[in-house]
This record gives sequence, structure tokens and C-alpha cells, in this order.
Amino acid sequence: KTPSQRAQLDILDQVSAYYEEMLKGHSDNQRAISYLTHRGLSGKVAKFFSLGYAPPGWSNLLQRFADSNQKKALLEESGMLIHNEEKQSHYDRFRDRIMFPIRDVRGRVVAFGGRVLGDEKPKYLNSPETDTFHKSRELYGLYEARKLTQKLTRIVIVEGYMDVISLTQFGITYAVATLGTAATAQHLERLFKTVSEVIFCFDGDAAGRKAAQRALETTLPVIRDGLQARFMFLPEGEDPDSLVRSEGKEGFEARLDEALPFSEFFFKSLGDGVDMSTLDGRALMSAAALPKIQQMQNGLLQQMMLDKVCEITGLEPESISIHANLAPQT
Ligand code: UTP
Ligand code: MN
Ligand code: MN
Ligand code: MN
Ligand code: MN
Repeated sequence: KTPSQRAQLDILDQVSAYYEEMLKGHSDNQRAISYLTHRGLSGKVAKFFSLGYAPPGWSNLLQRFADSNQKKALLEESGMLIHNEEKQSHYDRFRDRIMFPIRDVRGRVVAFGGRVLGDEKPKYLNSPETDTFHKSRELYGLYEARKLTQKLTRIVIVEGYMDVISLTQFGITYAVATLGTAATAQHLERLFKTVSEVIFCFDGDAAGRKAAQRALETTLPVIRDGLQARFMFLPEGEDPDSLVRSEGKEGFEARLDEALPFSEFFFKSLGDGVDMSTLDGRALMSAAALPKIQQMQNGLLQQMMLDKVCEITGLEPESISIHANLAPQT
């Protein structure tokens, strides 16, 4: 870490403690507390995730922490203050929001997500990319999950902060979320360093289904023999937070156990809307499948998925390899 990164981590740690303090004691904190209560969060889980509250007002952090120009610059670099170049002034990025500190794997606060208490937009505001925060690498809840379970065997990737926290409250203590972005290959590689099984769990809405397709593409070059990626779909209108509340830990885990293996979701998704009873449909689907299978790492799973294409088309592997320009499998 450079001195500047260390200074950023240090100030973010102080800011996080300040937000926590504001949740407990600010004069406006009742609205924040009752919001969390209405969402069904226990005090225990709120504390475990160090939830906080950014009070209303444009200059709370400014007044509390930015007593020099150097401090102002530091808070701006760490994403907490916004610089209005025209007015030559700084103001707080997060105002009147529930604050979710985002920790790196070592537990250091590197960023925040903030949720409005009502219906204002945007619903969630996240820290910008900084020297210490890279959305394409960090996963919300990974530090906390590792803290709760020494030897993790599987991890479920969900869409939101509240999903991670609710699942944890209900005893599903191995959930992480991406931070308002799609899961990246870097996220997956990081998770597969810790566990051999990753389950994607998407909201039962259009955005969730779209995210699932993207996740499938992202998984293709990363998945290899010995690793499992699976895909879980929730009923329309549900997300992990709502579902674990209505179905409990057992219900949710039963759904996790039924999540589609990578190869099944792969063929299901390519076969969607294709009439597989005709040669034309099977050719169409196979032609779409081959270049994707080609992206996979060489190994048994890749070979078996290729075999599956042979089964579908009735062609010999040799002729498929020729037509698809696949490297010969040996
Ligand atoms: P959702 O709209 O599904 O929100 O977005 P949610 O997590 O269920 O939130 P609640 O239950 O209404 O509190 C999923 C995730 O997408 C990101 C956030 O990370 C959110 O958790 N997102 C969503 C944003 O970054 N900004 C937004 O305005 C909305
Ligand atoms: Mn500036
Ligand atoms: Mn959603
Ligand atoms: Mn939700
Ligand atoms: Mn949701």
C-alpha cells in the first residue's frame, strides 16, 4: 500500500465509525432505525455488518473530518466528498442514507453503498472507483462470510446488499454481492480461490434474467474441471431477501440445492425458443454452442459438452471439429 492508500483506508475507517455512531445517536436516527426495523433486520446483524447512517445535510463529513485542505483532498480521493469546481467547494456525497460499509478481504473499509429511506432516486448510491476500491474485484460480504465460517465450501452470489444481510440473518452465512455491476471473471477467480462451488442467484425480474445470461458468458472461460458454477432462479417478483423471509433457511437452501449446473443452464439457455425437434433448430443451437464451448478451458467438461452437441446433431466429433475449427481434442 502507498502512503496515500493507507491514509484513505484510515479515513474510511473513521468515517464508517462515524456513520455507525450516527445510526445510534443522531437526532434524525429514528427514521433510519425504523427503516431497518421495517425491513426486518435484527440489531445483531446490523451491527455485524457495521451498518450506519449518513444524516441529512451537505456538510456533515466536511465539518467533522475536513479541517484542512489536505483532509478535504483526502476525502475527495476516497469518494466521500464531491468537489464542485465551479463553486470551489466540497460537499458530502452520501446524505440521508443507510450506509453499508464495503470491506476488502482483509476487513478494511474501502467504500460504501448508501440506500435512501424512501422512494427517492437513485435507490442505492455507491462510492466511485478509487485507488483502494475496484468494483470489478471487490465483493460485498466476502470478508464477513469468511469471518463466520472458517472453511467455506460454497458461496452464493446475489445482487444486493440487503440480500446478503438477510440471508446471513437467517443463517445462510455464505452470500456475497457484486456492487451494482455484473459479476466479472476477476470476481469468479477470487471466489474459486476460496471455494469450489459458486451459485449465482438472481432476482426474479427482467434485470435478474439478463444478469444471468451475462454471468453465463463470464463463467465460460473461467470454469474448469473440479469447479462448479450453478444458476438459481427465483419466482417472479422475489429476491433472496424476500424469499428467505417467506421460506426460511431450509426453503432457501432447498432451492440452492436445485440450482442448475453450468452445462444445463448453458444448453437450456441456447435452446430457448429453438424448435429442437427439427434439424434446422438443432443445427442453429449447435452452431451457437460451438464457439462458446471453444472459449472454455480444455478438459473433461469441455469435452463432454462437445459430446452433447454431437448427441444433439448426430454428427461425429471429427466432423464437428472441422466445421467449427475447434482445436482437436485429445
Ligand atoms: P435491486 O433493485 O434488486 O435492489 O438492485 P435490492 O438490492 O433488492 O434493494 P432493496 O431490497 O430495495 O433495498 C440490486 C442491486 O443493484 C444495485 C445495488 O447494489 C442493489 O443492491 N443498485 C440498484 C444500485 O447500485 N443502484 C440503484 O439505484 C439500484
Ligand atoms: Mn478536486
Ligand atoms: Mn432486482
Ligand atoms: Mn430487495
Ligand atoms: Mn433485489
